[in-house]
Amino acid sequence: MTTASAPGKVILFGEHAVVSGITALGGAINLRAKVTVKDRPGCLLIRTDDLVLRGFSFDLSSGQLSSPQAANATRYIAAVVREFDARNIQVEVESDLPLAAGLGSSAAVVVAAVTALSRHQGQELSDKEIAATSYRLEKEVQHGLASPTDTALATFGGYLSVSKEISALDLLPIEIVVGWTGVPHDTKYEVEKVQALRRDHPDLVDPIFQAIGTISERAVSLIREQKTADLGQMMNINHGLLEALGVSSRELSELVYAARGAGGALGAKLTGAGGGGCMIALPGLGRTEALMTAIRQARGVSFRVNVGSEGVRMERDP
Ligand code: MEV
Repeated sequence: MTTASAPGKVILFGEHAVVSGITALGGAINLRAKVTVKDRPGCLLIRTDDLVLRGFSFDLSSGQLSSPQAANATRYIAAVVREFDARNIQVEVESDLPLAAGLGSSAAVVVAAVTALSRHQGQELSDKEIAATSYRLEKEVQHGLASPTDTALATFGGYLSVSKEISALDLLPIEIVVGWTGVPHDTKYEVEKVQALRRDHPDLVDPIFQAIGTISERAVSLIREQKTADLGQMMNINHGLLEALGVSSRELSELVYAARGAGGALGAKLTGAGGGGCMIALPGLGRTEALMTAIRQARGVSFRVNVGSEGVRMERDP
């Protein structure tokens, strides 16, 4: 039996602008996906148990699905199984990460599966190889649309600065609260919408992207110097700019305003592509519980997370 786990991620600053080469800042979070591979002669079985879809199985050898959603959730594992030409195994997936929420759940599952399956076969892949293979597979499953940031954060952990290149940043972990609207989002749709806005109004959108890039770069030194009030202000400005780009939604804005109001957050913004998915908020000192309650009262699901968490790792057998 071989088990590996990998973290999800949040984009702290710079989403959408990064598509046009502007700097974004992302961090791995301590919500993880865990993949276990067991020998099971004559079988190729995938079981998943996550927040959204509980307890279904998919037998690859017979092609039998226990639900239509099983095909969606297992296609990532099926791609990894094919890549390693694995047989006579059972793969189990457990995840703390909600699906289609912008928290990098598919990248975490792919990275954990690549690590667990390769190790189960006696291969020692480097982190660089794990990140590259996982990115290729995630992109293949998602028909060409995947961000190398998600698989890099799931592999290396910590914080990454992303522009045309991806580089690791040495920063201390910070605690934030994630609020999930429960509304699935469509990254491709939101990205295309913003890029179309840029084509129509480059004189308006380019300065917004530039301002977002300045925020991402300023945020690195604010995290380093632990200037949380200023960091919160950067979140608020970044959210306003994302609103201007048209990627917030009623549900996201309600969570953002609840976080800043009753939740006493130092700052709050949507994270990822927008249109649904999640927002993040920076708690005031001793106010984390109040912040989580405020998000729940505004009909969100709240998670307390540490940003800058550990990347992929092997888990010991129970
Ligand atoms: C989505 O998580 C972040 C976007 O910037 C798209 C991307 O970077 O691939 C909206």
